[in-house]
Amino acid sequence: MVDRCATEQSISCRPPLDRKRVYTSQFNSHALIDTLPARVMVFDTTLRDGEQTPGIALSVEDKVKIAQALDELGVDVIEAGFPASSPGERDSIKRITSLGLRSRVCGLARCNKKDIDASIDCGLDYIHTFIATSDIHLQHKLKMTREEVKARAIESIEHAKARGVTVEFSCEDATRTDLEFLKEMHIAVQGAKVDKINVPDTVGTISPPAMEYLIKELMTVTRVPIAVHCHDDFGLAVANSMAAVRQGAQQVHVTINGLGERAGNAALEETVLALMAFYNIETSVDTRKIGPTSRLVSRLTGIAVPGNKAIVGNNAFAHESGIHVHGVMGDPSTYEAFGPELVGVQRNIVIGKHSGAHSIKDKLEEYGVELSDDQIATVVSKVKRLADSGKDVDDAELVALAAHILGQREAKKVKLKEFAVFTGINTTPTAVVSIEVNGEKKTGTSTGIGPVDAAINAIKAVMGSDISLEEYRLSAITGGSDSLCEVSVRVARNGGKKTMSIGKAVGTDIVQSSVDATMEALDRLYCRKKE
Ligand code: KIV
Ligand code: ZN
Repeated sequence: MVDRCATEQSISCRPPLDRKRVYTSQFNSHALIDTLPARVMVFDTTLRDGEQTPGIALSVEDKVKIAQALDELGVDVIEAGFPASSPGERDSIKRITSLGLRSRVCGLARCNKKDIDASIDCGLDYIHTFIATSDIHLQHKLKMTREEVKARAIESIEHAKARGVTVEFSCEDATRTDLEFLKEMHIAVQGAKVDKINVPDTVGTISPPAMEYLIKELMTVTRVPIAVHCHDDFGLAVANSMAAVRQGAQQVHVTINGLGERAGNAALEETVLALMAFYNIETSVDTRKIGPTSRLVSRLTGIAVPGNKAIVGNNAFAHESGIHVHGVMGDPSTYEAFGPELVGVQRNIVIGKHSGAHSIKDKLEEYGVELSDDQIATVVSKVKRLADSGKDVDDAELVALAAHILGQREAKKVKLKEFAVFTGINTTPTAVVSIEVNGEKKTGTSTGIGPVDAAINAIKAVMGSDISLEEYRLSAITGGSDSLCEVSVRVARNGGKKTMSIGKAVGTDIVQSSVDATMEALDRLYCRKKE
């Protein structure tokens, strides 16, 4: 048995490295077996299978940004796209291959010379070529016999190898392919000098124990490294990837945020953390960069990460109930399997009907609001009443509630005097603002990538470089072009958590509402008694 004591991450057996400070069940140690590798390679296919997510179309610039982020994250291989699919795809792959990234860059090619040559001509030195092998695909899609498919795979791999590139080969729909034929394919492609063989669960139709069985069988005839590519149709992509690794797979195909065809692929963030936490398996991924990479991919693809998504969802480290908040404040391991800093995200104490006085007091103090115990009790009961009537209490509303309880608010210290923004087609959005700060009028101007950005930059130009915008949220309250929008902003002085302030505004004009919310947050910041 491999010595993997460190995976018994009870509080009394904390592993030495920070990244291993996880508090998983001690029973996991009973699932450790000799076939577990010490290290697994991460093959990221966000830019290929991930881009096949319905509704995603990334520009060349976006793809380059994502490739750079994946390289920073530390993945071993970036599958940058499918060169034969379009000229734009080839452009982005050429740009990515010319970046000189540390990660290997790979392109997908069907088993034909045209696809393979298109990939190599983009500067790729790593090709992932595939052909379907299940009878379902042979009969209904390819209309080819098993022998024809095998010959095509051999011929394509030999062609790619003759051009001097690394070749990874996939039997598409491997998990629904006849086992003897699948083994025959593995033997045949090894004869053609393939470098790696991937086992795709193309339609996400296998279970973890069955995946273990399959990989164990394939290992009997496979001498090159085996990779696994799992889809999430039954929500088992990560579990199936782990099962494959248990029996000898040395590489996992993953995507950021689990993007991919239909229900998606195994999520990088979940797979990497699970391998590390449950099997003590190393990867080259810098887990602290997972949160920022997830946010970047979500922003550029336009696919929001569900709140309850493991690791990177907004609620993954959010605590609301008094019991949980109290526990987490005592020691986060009470209600967190690992700290959010391990994956580059933040813990969030949420105010709602389950909140207790402690969390409400702490939350208000973050915004510089101090209330007596009696006043806190009043806020708690108001929050519960609002929540019982189905209303969400966000930070801005909590601060407003507290201000109301505190009574007469001081005269405004930060007042908007004048504001104008110029925008249009082929014009750089430009804003001018005049603000009175403690009785002194100051004017500032700035540009931005849009009118809201220009307006907020102009406000920042007036207020000074120590003021930063920490968060900006915009939501439409009603439908239609005359929709009411709600803007909520969080500002901070010197980026400090204890010098934060929040403002919220509702209106029909996004720019005006953004300015109003920012002014409210700034006024609150300047009216604070203590820093
Ligand atoms: O899911 C799949 O089978 C694929 C192949 C191209 C490997 O994405
Ligand atoms: Zn796939």
